[in-house]
Amino acid sequence: MALSPARDGLSTFYFLLNMKVLVATEKPFAKVAVDGIREVVEGAGYELALLEKYTEKQQLLEAVADVDALIIRSDKVDAEVLDAAKQLKIVVRAGAGYDNIDLEAATAHKVVAMNTPGQNSNAVAELALGLMVYAVRNFYNGTSGTELMGKKLGIHAFGNVGRNVARIAQGFGMEVYAYDAYCPDEVMTAAGVTPVHSAEELYRTCGIVSLHIPATAETKNSINHDLVNLMPKGGMLVNTARKEVIDEEGLIALMQERADLKYITDIMPVADAKFRTLFENRYFATPKKMGAQTAEANINAGIAAAKQIVDFLENGNTRFQVN
Ligand code: 3PG
Repeated sequence: MALSPARDGLSTFYFLLNMKVLVATEKPFAKVAVDGIREVVEGAGYELALLEKYTEKQQLLEAVADVDALIIRSDKVDAEVLDAAKQLKIVVRAGAGYDNIDLEAATAHKVVAMNTPGQNSNAVAELALGLMVYAVRNFYNGTSGTELMGKKLGIHAFGNVGRNVARIAQGFGMEVYAYDAYCPDEVMTAAGVTPVHSAEELYRTCGIVSLHIPATAETKNSINHDLVNLMPKGGMLVNTARKEVIDEEGLIALMQERADLKYITDIMPVADAKFRTLFENRYFATPKKMGAQTAEANINAGIAAAKQIVDFLENGNTRFQVN
């Protein structure tokens, strides 16, 4: 419990005593990452609580009741959770995408929301390339596949993950292109990547497109029938970003029209059963989102989250605030 629990502004400094930090992860971190988080949290003199592999929202609602800070992954923090978290001052999404936090509600509750950008991006990028190899080798079914070397890879959004994908793909000898409305051409060219200036141009140019866009009002359902239809014969779409950016029915319709297209994803679509039934050998989804599920990514993102919490509570540092 804090001596000064009043939440009279997002940048309030807290006089600290027995602060309680909850790690709430439906998909838990590696143990070594939890150990690292514990070291940071207890090192600051705070208490650490764990809620791992929970199955019901009610468990989260109960666990947040007396905590000052919260570390989550893709766990949903909405107005109901924030209402239940009467003492909450900060929530840190240990990872990049924070579409699982209701930012407006967090602000209304005077709770600071942060992410830990870049901390798990190599892990996601390695998985993207791994999925590509798996798919071009026909899911290791014993038949002859193709290679990545010399193929054109389109990176849709050149953020932390996209940049790591470019680096690794260059190691495979791929020709790398990228489209990102918010990233200057020079950043891409400095990385040996050819910038293109519209999503349409990217999909028209590249036989493999790797998605790295966040799920926002602007991007939801934006990867649709007409866009993917621009891809050359044998095109493959790889999604390690978010399922919400895909117009699933549009993609299903397109894959029915074009037997040459493949969809490979680390985020199981809502229509997974339909994709599986209709597109045997052209569709693959990991059973659970695996991109950031490495010890290294868990350690990097989890410990960064813990340090950001301590730095915020002790010093008011809001560097990674997203609300
Ligand atoms: C992210 O946004 O950081 C990634 O999608 C990883 O999500 P996860 O922590 O739920 O695996």
